[in-house]
Amino acid sequence: MSQNIDRLIKKDADVVLHPASSITALLEDGPQMIVEAKGCNVIDSDGRELLDAVAGLWCVNTGYGRTELADAMKNAAEKLGYYHSFANSSNPWQVELAEKLVSLAPEGLSKVFFGTSGSDCNDTLIKIAWHYHVLRGNSKKIKIIAREQAYHGTSISSASLTGLTHFHSDFPIPLNFVLRTDCPHYYTGALEDETEEEFCDRLIGNIEQLIEKESADTIAAFFAEPIMGAGGVIVPPPGYYPRLTKILKDNDILFVADEVICGYGRLGNWFGSPQLGIEPDMMASAKGLTSGYFPLSAAYISQPIWEVLKEGSQKLGAFFHGYTYSGHPVGAAVGLANLEIFEKENLIARAKENGIYLHEQLQSLLNLPNVGEIRGEGLIAGVQLVADKSSRTLPDAAAKIPMNVTKLMLEKGVIIRPLATVATLAISPPLTISKDEIDRLVQMMSESIAAQV
Ligand SMILES: Cc1ncc(COP(=O)(O)O)c(C=O)c1O
Repeated sequence: MSQNIDRLIKKDADVVLHPASSITALLEDGPQMIVEAKGCNVIDSDGRELLDAVAGLWCVNTGYGRTELADAMKNAAEKLGYYHSFANSSNPWQVELAEKLVSLAPEGLSKVFFGTSGSDCNDTLIKIAWHYHVLRGNSKKIKIIAREQAYHGTSISSASLTGLTHFHSDFPIPLNFVLRTDCPHYYTGALEDETEEEFCDRLIGNIEQLIEKESADTIAAFFAEPIMGAGGVIVPPPGYYPRLTKILKDNDILFVADEVICGYGRLGNWFGSPQLGIEPDMMASAKGLTSGYFPLSAAYISQPIWEVLKEGSQKLGAFFHGYTYSGHPVGAAVGLANLEIFEKENLIARAKENGIYLHEQLQSLLNLPNVGEIRGEGLIAGVQLVADKSSRTLPDAAAKIPMNVTKLMLEKGVIIRPLATVATLAISPPLTISKDEIDRLVQMMSESIAAQV
């Protein structure tokens, strides 16, 4: 095995194009080869056990090494390895999972469409928003509002919604149906002497002006992560979402909550929308739905939207959208088994309790001269690095402080995620993380940030 692993480590750069990775760094350093995982820890090819405080890519909510999920996968694959869901075909697993998801969903969401990734989920919801308005005779309602620093995926349309500009560079995107509005981050976005309330008023005012300028009858939807993940773990000011929800309703603009990270317990509730005061018309989810063990996404829609799609299907002959792997029986079986673990182990309540503990412990980092803010709710947190606290100046990007902290933490056996463009360190561990593991994570982070002063 080890000889073979050595060969594969050398071979990697020859044959694999990695997502969101530096090809130069891969050629120089080779890959980080992970070969095994259990609980909150992954094990690399040198046998080093690393505490994974990001749960893979914010997704392994029930933790690694779950034999229940492996068994569910095996049983479903043996019984029905695959069958499609086109032309009204179905399988028992997807119906059971959809029934379960609708029972957990924020009020008003009553139907589920299955795909395989967060990006395809957002693609689906863009198309449904367009379809819904066109079928109601509003064929000009095409534009979609998304925020600066948002992350909605990397397919052509979801990358267009994404507001992190490095995902656009040298690609002919964003596509021109996207309208951009402010990132709701008070700490870095406030004007001098602006209170959080005034900041919120200004952002809401900007959205109202944007809608007026573009005209509501050209705007289909507003996409928002309840708490922004990859853009810096941004929690908007209190009052922002209830006010936004009302404005969108008044203008017949659909509110699409992208819960790809926030969903399935991350914030200490099943979903982030009710917690943050959002009443979504549609909702995207993936990641924690199967804890990453199988690629599966679920797009939720409201009953009124479904009623319009039903009429459209009568008119057009079908709802013409879908994927080969929509409603995959194996993915649905894993989703069901994963949600069973949530319930059996009371993981939502545990995430809430351990989330409070994590945020309490992280407060100690504010004693460091180069930490300006701790953000997040439940088991997601962002640690804002600064060069100067009083002026809220961010560190010089060329100094690569977030990367340096991350490297040092890795040497100490802890994985976190650097969000370099916003000088933020992201934490999003499995919901099963223990208080001891949280203590270790915070201690290692404290030492590694202090080393950069
Ligand atoms: C909020 C959000 N939406 C969408 C996506 C895209 O999901 P995927 O990578 O499965 O396409 C992500 C991925 O991190 C995400 O964080």
